[in-house]
Amino acid sequence: MYEATRFVALPPVANRNAKESSMCGIIGYSGPRKTTAILLEGLRRLEYRGYDSAGIALGSGKSLRIVKTVGKIAALKAAIPADLEGNWGIGHTRWATHGGVTQINAHPHMDGSGKLAVVHNGIIENHHALRAMLEKKGCVFVSETDTEVIPHLIAQYYKGDLLEAVKEALPKLQGTYGIACIHADEPGRIVGARNGSPLVVGVGSGEMFLASDITAMVAYTDKVIYLNDGEIVDLGVDHYSISNREERKVDKKIDQITWELGSIEKGDYPCYMEKEIFEQPESIERALSGRLDAENATAKLGGLNLDRRQLSAVGRVKVIAAGTSWHAGLIGCQLLEGLARLPSQAELASEIRYRNAVVEKDSLWFTVSQSGETADSLYAMREIQRKGATVLGICNVVGSTIARESDGGIYVHSGPEIAVASTKAFTSQLAAFYLFSLLMARMRHMAREDGAAFLAQLQNVPSLVAAALKQRDLIQAVAKKYCHAKDFLFLGRGMLYPIALEGALKLKEISYIHAEGCSAGEMKHGPIALISGEVPSVFLISDDYLREKTLSNIREIKARGGPIIAVGVEGDEEARRVADDFIPVPHSDPRFYPFTMVVPLQLLAYFCALELGRDVDQPRNLAKSVTVE
Ligand code: F6R
Repeated sequence: MYEATRFVALPPVANRNAKESSMCGIIGYSGPRKTTAILLEGLRRLEYRGYDSAGIALGSGKSLRIVKTVGKIAALKAAIPADLEGNWGIGHTRWATHGGVTQINAHPHMDGSGKLAVVHNGIIENHHALRAMLEKKGCVFVSETDTEVIPHLIAQYYKGDLLEAVKEALPKLQGTYGIACIHADEPGRIVGARNGSPLVVGVGSGEMFLASDITAMVAYTDKVIYLNDGEIVDLGVDHYSISNREERKVDKKIDQITWELGSIEKGDYPCYMEKEIFEQPESIERALSGRLDAENATAKLGGLNLDRRQLSAVGRVKVIAAGTSWHAGLIGCQLLEGLARLPSQAELASEIRYRNAVVEKDSLWFTVSQSGETADSLYAMREIQRKGATVLGICNVVGSTIARESDGGIYVHSGPEIAVASTKAFTSQLAAFYLFSLLMARMRHMAREDGAAFLAQLQNVPSLVAAALKQRDLIQAVAKKYCHAKDFLFLGRGMLYPIALEGALKLKEISYIHAEGCSAGEMKHGPIALISGEVPSVFLISDDYLREKTLSNIREIKARGGPIIAVGVEGDEEARRVADDFIPVPHSDPRFYPFTMVVPLQLLAYFCALELGRDVDQPRNLAKSVTVE
C-alpha cells in the first residue's frame, strides 16, 4: 500500500461523512500467549494517547471475566487477580466523553447476559434513542456511556454467530466507532469494525491482534492491515477475514511495519520527550534521506503524485493543521513565499473546517499532522477535497487516516512520537516544507547555484541541531532559575515568530505555566502591558535584517524591568549583554534558524516541567491524537 518514503493514492475510504471519534485505545488478542500480559502491555503502549480509566475482558472456557479501574494501567494491573488468565480478550483505555471518570463507565461494556463484551472508540450519536428502544425491550443499563448500547444492541441479534450479530447491529449505529467485540460462547473469536476511528489488524504466526494503533502490537508482529471505514474484521487464533458494508469479502494487502521496537522504548532516557528531543538530528536526517537531488540542485518528492506540469501550474499554497503542526505550516508558508514566490497561507484546521473557504483553482493544499488522525484537520481536509482541491498530506504516522485520504504527500519519518508534546515531528515537518519549497523554487525563479547552496545547508541541519542540543545543561540551569514564574512571553519576528508560538505552546502544555507567543514587533501594540519583574520574556534573535529591530524590542522590555532570556546566535555579544540569560545556537543561514532555535525552547519547557514535578510525557487533559472536536 505504501512505499517507504512515498505517499501513494489509495482507494477512497467508504464513509467520508463520519463525524468524530475519540482518543481512547483498543487492543485485542487471540493466541497461545498469556493474554492478560499481552493486553496489559498493549494498553501500556497506548498510554501516550491520554486516558483516565482502563479495563480488560478475558475469555476463558465459556466465560468472560472483566476487570476495570479508574486511573493508570498500573492500577488496572494491581486490580487483576494473579491467577486471572484467558485464551483471548480485549482491552481499552478510556478518555471520558459521555459520563464521568468512573469504574462503571470504563470499558469493556457488556450485554445483560454477561457473555458479550465490547470496547469502543468514538461517539454513538443516537445512543439516547437506542437506549430508550433497548430499555423497552428489557435491557438494563449500568453506565452513563454511549458505548453501552452497543453490546445490548448486538445481543438482540445474537443467535450463536458474533459476526452476523455485529453486521446486523452496525447499521443501527449513528456516529463513529472502532469496536472490538467478544462472546463467551465463541472462544478465540474477536469481531472488529471501523467507522471513523482507526483499527488495525496485526497478523502474527498462530496469533492475531486487533488495535487502534500499531504501537500496541509492534512488540509482537510487524505485519498489519489497516481497516477502512465500513470494514468489519472477523479474527481467530490463526485466521482473519475482512468484509465491507456490502458484505463482500475484501482482499487486503498486509503492510510491513518498519519500526524497530527500540523506537517505542525510552531506552536510557527518563522520559519519551527528552529522548525525542535528542533524536532530532537523526529524525531530520531521515526526513531528508533520499530526497536531495544534488545533481539538479533540487528535491525529489515522489509521493506528491504530481508531475512537473501540475506542479508548475500551482499558483498558491494553503496549509491546514492544528497546534504544533500549524506552527510548522506557518514557517513553511513563509519559506514558500520567500523562496518560491508562491502566495502561501497556513490555516487553523478548527477554523477553516467551519468556514465556507474559497478554493482557488490553482491552489495546492497540504494537511500537516503528526498523528494523521486529528479530527479538525481530517474534516477540514475532506471539506476542501469536496470543493475539488488537491490536498496533500505531511504526516508522520504511516497508514493514518489523513495519509490514506490525502491525494499524495510526504511522510516525515520521525519514527514513533510517544510523548504527548510534539518535538521531533515538528522539525521533520519543517524539513518536508524546506524540501518542497526548494523543489518549487527551482521550478520557478531559483538559480541552480542558489539551489545548490540551499541544499547544502539543508543537509547540514542535523549537525546544527546536534550542536544546539549541546546547551542542555545551560538550559536546565535557566529553567531552574525561572520555572516558578506564573507567566512567560515568547517573542520572535519573521520565521522566528511561529517558533515563539511553538515555545509558548510547549511550555504551557507540559509545565502548566501560562505562556504567550507574540510577534516581537506587536509587543508595543498591547502585550507590553504585561511586563513586570515577574514575567520573563524569551526572545529569539536571528542575525539577519531583523536583528536590530528585535534588539530594540528587548530594550523596550528591559526598560520596564522585564527579565530577558535570549536565544541568539553564537558570538552575538550584544545580545548576550542585553539579556539576563543567553542561550547560543550555532551560526547558519538565517533561513535555517527555525530548526535550531526551537531546540532550546523544547528543552526549556521540558526542564521547567521536570523541575515542577509534572508528568512530562502525559500532561493533564491532553491526548496525543486529538480525534474529538
Ligand atoms: C503540541 C501538540 C499538539 C498537536 C496538535 C496536532 O505539542 O502535540 O498541539 O500538534 O494536536 O496534532 P497532529 O500533528 O497529530 O495533527
